[in-house]
Amino acid sequence: MDQMGQTRETAYRNKRMETEEKMSKKILIVSTSPRKGSNSEALALAFADGAKEAGNEVDFISLRGKTVNFCRGCFVCQEKLRCVIRDDADEICQKALTANVLVFATPIYYYEMSGQLKTLLDRLNPLFPSDYAFQDIYLMTSAAEAEDSVPERAISGVEGWVECFERARLAGTVFMGGVTEA
Ligand SMILES: Cc1cc2nc3c(=O)[nH]c(=O)nc-3n(C[C@H](O)[C@H](O)[C@H](O)COP(=O)(O)O)c2cc1C
Repeated sequence: MDQMGQTRETAYRNKRMETEEKMSKKILIVSTSPRKGSNSEALALAFADGAKEAGNEVDFISLRGKTVNFCRGCFVCQEKLRCVIRDDADEICQKALTANVLVFATPIYYYEMSGQLKTLLDRLNPLFPSDYAFQDIYLMTSAAEAEDSVPERAISGVEGWVECFERARLAGTVFMGGVTEA
């Protein structure tokens, strides 16, 4: 290859790397099952693998062993943009603020999202008045029963949360039914 060809190839490579860097997204994945090797977490891990392979920056958090207290409903966060409770939800909330994509994984408990996920969503209340970066939200669910209707209420619940964030949408859901063993 002559010098001209090499220069062109370098320029092309640089441009491609620049574009790939620009397209790379910050993805925050939160797995809420308390079980090690859980089914919903397996879905979340598969999502993480695919996202990493596609060149995205992935932060994977499991709530197992973490402390997520209930929202106190004090609304201080709506002014201060931060929760008064200093626990793991506070840290997750700060990560969620700058992520472009949020992924939540939950087992189905009594045809709903797990209490762990609901508690976390409530604790993400400081995001409501904030300049959050996320646009796409994904929900991964698993349950013992396999009917398509099983995750409907969990999806609807997360939709309710997403609707409160104007720039965001529920971009996709994945359900794995017929699984109990972790
Ligand atoms: C408290 C509780 C409630 C559950 N409720 C349901 C249910 O309503 N429908 C269902 O199909 N499975 C139900 N299951 C089973 C779990 O959804 C199922 O085992 C799931 O795969 C667990 O996900 P994980 O491995 O990610 O924890 C329930 C399990 C528990 C512990």
